[in-house]
Amino acid sequence: MGELHAKNIGEYLEEQRRKETLRFITCGSVDDGKSTLIGRLLYESKCIFDDQLKALESDSKRYGTTGEKIDFALLVDGLEAEREQGITIDVAYRFFATDRRRYIVADTPGHEQYTRNMATGASTAQLAILLIDARKGILPQTRRHHRIVTMMGIRHIVLAVNKMDLVNHDEAVYRKIEADYREFAKDAHLATLQPIPLAAVHGDNVMKASGNMPWYQGPTLFEHLDTIDVSHKATREAFRLPIQWVNRPNLNYRGFCGRIAEGKVRPGDKVRILPSGRTTTVKSIDFFEQELAEAEEGASITLTLNEEVDVSRGDLIVAADSPPEVADQFQVRILWMAEEAMVPGRSYWLKMHTKEVTATVMEIKYREDVNTGAHLAAKVLQLNEIAVATLSTTHPVVFEPYTTNRALGGFILIDKLTCATVGAGMVEFALRRASNVHWQALEVNRQQRALIKHQTPRCVWFTGLSGSGKSTVANLLEKRLHAEGRHTYLLDGDNVRHGLNRDLGFTEADRVENLRRVAEVAKLMVDAGLIVLVSFISPFKAERRAARELFGEGEFLEIHVSTPIEECEKRDVKGLYAKARRGELKNFTGIDSPYEAPEHAELTIDTSKQSPEECALAVLRLVEGK
Ligand code: ADX
Repeated sequence: MGELHAKNIGEYLEEQRRKETLRFITCGSVDDGKSTLIGRLLYESKCIFDDQLKALESDSKRYGTTGEKIDFALLVDGLEAEREQGITIDVAYRFFATDRRRYIVADTPGHEQYTRNMATGASTAQLAILLIDARKGILPQTRRHHRIVTMMGIRHIVLAVNKMDLVNHDEAVYRKIEADYREFAKDAHLATLQPIPLAAVHGDNVMKASGNMPWYQGPTLFEHLDTIDVSHKATREAFRLPIQWVNRPNLNYRGFCGRIAEGKVRPGDKVRILPSGRTTTVKSIDFFEQELAEAEEGASITLTLNEEVDVSRGDLIVAADSPPEVADQFQVRILWMAEEAMVPGRSYWLKMHTKEVTATVMEIKYREDVNTGAHLAAKVLQLNEIAVATLSTTHPVVFEPYTTNRALGGFILIDKLTCATVGAGMVEFALRRASNVHWQALEVNRQQRALIKHQTPRCVWFTGLSGSGKSTVANLLEKRLHAEGRHTYLLDGDNVRHGLNRDLGFTEADRVENLRRVAEVAKLMVDAGLIVLVSFISPFKAERRAARELFGEGEFLEIHVSTPIEECEKRDVKGLYAKARRGELKNFTGIDSPYEAPEHAELTIDTSKQSPEECALAVLRLVEGK
């Protein structure tokens, strides 16, 4: 910080601006000396203020574990204390600089319950430092850290073998750890792997080469960080611009704004718009008031095109002769980040680059043990668990595999009800099955089918506890509609579970699938022109909402049969409540499985207050629009 006074401030800032930035993550626990190492990096790069240093010196004497010397762990742990309350998806970022580079370090806890934090920190890092305690060697946690950072696309690893002073600076110990890691990481396709023996407490091999380890000929940690080339330019450089916003200030200007995810662009370049596939050429590259002759990866720009073509948010403008793929079904890897489990069949918002669509995990192929990499069977995915799964989206998405381009192959999943980020994912490849199945255009359409039946097709969806009277009311309603010459069908939970859904039970995952299927069937029936009555407990808000989204405005009528549980249990027509109370029936709705009541049902009826006939009449009026 002292140098700041000596120089002209403008010169200093200009020098800082010109420096490259390297983003890295440190993986390890406090026991491995992670705080000490980070404290040491800040200290050696002189990014600790004088007053902090003074406080540190006196704290070290008082509370430290290093005698008269400065205890660097106290510095970082001091910063850590600030964020001890309420760990969400929290990553601490620290900033420092050397003469050559600026650094941003993502510092996350190393325990398994913080997997999501480590993945968040790794998602934007170019390099990872895996910290090893020389006395302990490669531990299960090292393998976990390796797995998380490589999964997040990091291809540059520093194996920091720390605490060498505690093993007498023994070369054999270091070589053994290096060999163990190389063997374990041999299939990880790392671009660089740099092992370095360290004693962070004393600064050995951090900034200066250590006199204690003359057998080590490699770079010090700072030499390595200052010089490593982390660009991936060598491979393939094709222009990709995900569109964030279309700027249309007047009729004469239409600019497409976004941040270049890969490659370069110049006026005159041939480009293709995806997913539409139209081609045209670039007219100009605008950046504030300037017109640029060229722009490259990382730049936020506005493009104008030579022809009037349709481009909207979430589309991509790409090099015409080397376009990425477009698909709506994928094999993906997912890290689950929410307390509430991920259930296949449930719909979420998926955000990939600038595109937002509805997405559903179709099937979990396997869950991966983060510590061992073993493939495990799984029906649902819990917090911090990782799985390989198949996923489908409601609309085609332009993408590239995550290993090719993180910006175009990484996505997040968002809960539709709470809007919280619940998962992070990486596209591995597109599934070919969907691309060869096309939507068959039929000549008799739904209007014509409905017209011939003289009715407006509808889906009347009854939800409520077992024994609440759903089926009784639905049955009476169907009789009334039938008597009036309406074409109807009643889908009843118990009945559908004897056929189409006989493979499903009552776990959360099975119910989600049960409801997904019946909603799809109801949709086909509405398409056929029928008035469909669905009588399923359908206890989850998310699935009722997903069902509603399959239908047009006003076509879906949600009827909440709100008869209180005490009354349902008293009736206990099938004796199931008694069984559930005795513990002989698991996952029973209202007893040990939740029922989430609707908040915006079109109608609420209660068969303990009104007769089934009165209830059916109320629904009938709603269906007939009276
Ligand atoms: S849903 O929750 O998936 O919508 P659905 O309506 O298909 O349930 O099936 C509910 C019927 O299955 C109930 O009416 C009841 O007769 C029977 N059943 C058997 N086990 C359970 C259970 N654990 N929870 C609720 N209903 C059960």
